[in-house]
Amino acid sequence: MGAGKTTIGALAAAQIGRRFIDLDREIERSLRRTIPEVFQEEGEAGFRVIEAERTLETLWRERPAVISLGGGAVETPAVRKALREHALTVLLEVEVDEAWERVRASARPLAEDAEQFRALYERRQVLYDEAADVRARDVDDVVLAALGIEFGGQPEGDALIADPRALELHPIQLGETYTVEAKTFAEAARLWRELEIGRDGTVAAYGGGTTTDIAGFVAATYMRGVRWIAIPTTLVGQVDAAIGGKTAVDLPEGKNLVGAFHFPDRVLIDPALLATLPEAERRNGMSEVVKTGLLAGRRLWELPQEETIRACAAFKAGVCMADPFEQKGRREILNLGHTFGHALEAASEYRLGHGEAVALGLTAALRVSGLEIPDVLEVEPVRVDRERAWAALQRDKKARKGKIRLVLLEDLGKPVVREAEPKEVRAALDELIAG
Ligand SMILES: NC(=O)c1ccc[n+]([C@@H]2O[C@H](COP(=O)([O-])OP(=O)(O)OC[C@H]3O[C@@H](n4cnc5c(N)ncnc54)[C@H](O)[C@@H]3O)[C@@H](O)[C@H]2O)c1
Ligand SMILES: [Zn+2]
Repeated sequence: MGAGKTTIGALAAAQIGRRFIDLDREIERSLRRTIPEVFQEEGEAGFRVIEAERTLETLWRERPAVISLGGGAVETPAVRKALREHALTVLLEVEVDEAWERVRASARPLAEDAEQFRALYERRQVLYDEAADVRARDVDDVVLAALGIEFGGQPEGDALIADPRALELHPIQLGETYTVEAKTFAEAARLWRELEIGRDGTVAAYGGGTTTDIAGFVAATYMRGVRWIAIPTTLVGQVDAAIGGKTAVDLPEGKNLVGAFHFPDRVLIDPALLATLPEAERRNGMSEVVKTGLLAGRRLWELPQEETIRACAAFKAGVCMADPFEQKGRREILNLGHTFGHALEAASEYRLGHGEAVALGLTAALRVSGLEIPDVLEVEPVRVDRERAWAALQRDKKARKGKIRLVLLEDLGKPVVREAEPKEVRAALDELIAG
């Protein structure tokens, strides 16, 4: 009571694309009575019976959904059992005084007296602890938990696929260790043949996007698929690559041409691993952070590092849960700045780093959107061949009827996918190129 279940539940549901059900409201609607009325007429015991029936039915019928439980629902053993078996149960943490301040003026039958409220809080705390799979304080915590993303979680695994540099700087031991230098088909084939785990084994991936992409791909295909967990060690990995279930290897013909959607069971994020990251790699990650901030409408790049990572990871997790296999269009927004960026990368024959290319691409997307460019994106135009960049951009987007589909922003935090006039796109691209 007073923890914010309704508010946070509704926000989390919107972010991950699930329906939201507030059980107290459902009960009131179906009985055509308010909860205080039901308490008065049926007593608390009578209410608990109705509440348990409703809760169990909802858990069965309405999946997948985000459900806000009544504060006393966990007092019924059958509800606790159903939660254990069928739900990810998130305990919203709140101090008793804060909860009391929020509910004291309400008409809730069990919030009439401060002492009584405190005693109830203490008594239920034990049941909440038992029922909870995870604890959360805000919406981001809930969304992260929904996709198995943890800060400070304990690593596990039966085989470790690792980036050699990360392994050297931050040693870790989990079963047999395999290092990988590149996400190529040949490396994947070597791993398929050398892995010694069974169908029930778990692959742990330890490194940046190169490592988590190939390890996830190997996990998706080895013995038709085994479980995997990701332990990203770069900023790109922690805010982007390790999240969202896309796994891949590159081919000589192009990047990420072979892969699979295979979500890791858990993503363990430890920002302390980034202390050794070279500056250029940090900048790569910052471009994705700025992209996420523009999409979310928050200056995420200005937060302390751990908060930045948490917010970016949660944002990407929400988008990916709403569109897990890239079929609903929602994931498309994550390409903000990337159409221009990829064109510049290709025109430079990949001498230009991905982060720098994306920073330039974001500038162009903001210009076409008619929005101001934040200082963090101060970037110099690059020297590449204009015609090659333009050709690459058109190829990348398979321009439809002469128009080019772009992710743009109606405003900060309001991405839209729309078709733009080639002339306008060309002009924005040209502005990124020097000479
Ligand atoms: N799956 C996805 O959704 C997704 C999203 C974005 C990018 N990606 C992929 O990710 C790859 C890029 O990932 P990346 O930017 O993490 O690069 P990376 O994995 O190649 O790592 C970059 C460099 O950092 C080093 N390194 C790793 N951890 C370190 C640490 N803690 N300290 C010091 N050095 C460390 C590595 O040895 C490497 O030299 C690309 O292949 C891209 O396609 C995938
Ligand atoms: Zn990118």
